Amino acid sequence: MRGGEVMKPGKSQKGSAQRHLNAGFVAGGLLMLLGYLVAQHFAVSAPHVVITEALEVMNNIKAQGEIGNGKVECKMEGRSDTCEVDGDVRTNGTALSVTLVPAAWSERREWMIRPYSRRFASLRKVAVTRLQDSAAAPPCTVTHGTPAVLFAVGGYAGNYWHDYADILVPLFVASRRFGGEVTFLISNIRFKPQWLVKYGAFLRGLSRYEHVDLDADEQVRCFPHVTVGLRLDKEFSIVPELVPGGPLSMADFTRFLRETYALPRGAAASPAREPGRRPRLMLIHRGHYRRILNEPEVARAAEAAGFEVAVAELRGDAGEAEQARAVNSFDAVLGLHGAGLTNAVFLPPGGVLIQVVPYGKMEHIARAEFAEPAADMGLRYLDYSVSAEESSLMETLGPEHPAVRDPDSVHRGGWGQVFELYLAKQNVRINVTRFAPTLQEALDHLRRQ
Ligand SMILES: *[C@@H]1O[C@H](CO)[C@@H](O)[C@H](O)[C@H]1NC(C)=O
Ligand SMILES: *[C@@H]1O[C@H](CO)[C@@H](O)[C@H](O)[C@H]1NC(C)=O
Repeated sequence: MRGGEVMKPGKSQKGSAQRHLNAGFVAGGLLMLLGYLVAQHFAVSAPHVVITEALEVMNNIKAQGEIGNGKVECKMEGRSDTCEVDGDVRTNGTALSVTLVPAAWSERREWMIRPYSRRFASLRKVAVTRLQDSAAAPPCTVTHGTPAVLFAVGGYAGNYWHDYADILVPLFVASRRFGGEVTFLISNIRFKPQWLVKYGAFLRGLSRYEHVDLDADEQVRCFPHVTVGLRLDKEFSIVPELVPGGPLSMADFTRFLRETYALPRGAAASPAREPGRRPRLMLIHRGHYRRILNEPEVARAAEAAGFEVAVAELRGDAGEAEQARAVNSFDAVLGLHGAGLTNAVFLPPGGVLIQVVPYGKMEHIARAEFAEPAADMGLRYLDYSVSAEESSLMETLGPEHPAVRDPDSVHRGGWGQVFELYLAKQNVRINVTRFAPTLQEALDHLRRQ
């Protein structure tokens, strides 16, 4: 890929606007579906079910060598099911089981946990069991002195937004507290072998130990603590108070990315620090659908407003580090609603994310995935809602079609229709006059840095 290729200052507007750079990702419709489900979920506040099981460690009768009964704490609430298993914990990969071996007699209990942050993802479950006593315990074949975090790379992995929202951010939340002294037990690898290659550096940033391909693991591994599953507390973000072992924020997450990928820029362009340098805007190009039809015109408008612009062509084959470095050289990311906007994680704090929202009352869905996450990253979030006149639906369906005249009727018809009409079959032609104030707002924000 030509990810390192960026425009040079002083190029003609046309030349620079048409210069493309790759910043690979895989797009997918599931992203929008989830956004939709999230939006629905918020509308009807779901009842929370909490199952907590805690056995007190028997401090008083701790004999020599005895480690107590340990405890299993499972949380089945919000979007995720997870268990914290503490004590004499043993894993069997082929059985996909995690077993707590109590020192003294305990009531046997079992929990089935899907090791993915959205419980409705279809994946093999992990059996978490608290045995009655040590008689039935499988003997350890490998003993680890460090804790483990068990998760799967199935579900919606492979969609760039879901990679971050469902796995990478929750994994950071679950394991950062261990300072690298943690082993990752990963399920479902054989279905997504490329995933570990793409995010290898990320995983190495959180764990000093080789990960275990759990489904293929024939050992009984013993750990002092195993976290089973990942929690998703907030879409593509972090709720600091809910982070085990101390508050961490989305700003800490992006700082971790900058460390991991050695990204040079920790702050957006500042006229004070770099006089004469124009803020750089990455315009994300989508190849197949949901395209900006007048992309060169939009790029020229951004150049005219004062940005240096490069169009990023998104492909799935780019290395993550290379992509991170390319994006980090920009101050703003602009694009139509889609997984490509996830690249904002690599922008320096103080930067701007501009989301173009397709026509059809899509603001709620579009914002659920990017507005608060961007703000939590320390970015300025702006969106621009496309009017009917700027939508290709005006031409393809005509002004009298219900999708153009009455978006509410499409929403009443369900997700299938919403996706089909507004996300899969719509391209936009941005009115650059109408869009100009949004570009100006982005620029004003950057100039205040
Ligand atoms: C793991 O569990 C499977 C299925 O219960 C069993 O056949 C196998 O012997 C166990 N592995 C070890 C090493 O105990
Ligand atoms: C573009 O937007 C401007 C400002 O809102 C408006 O006056 C103009 O009519 C629009 N142009 C088109 C072609 O719709």
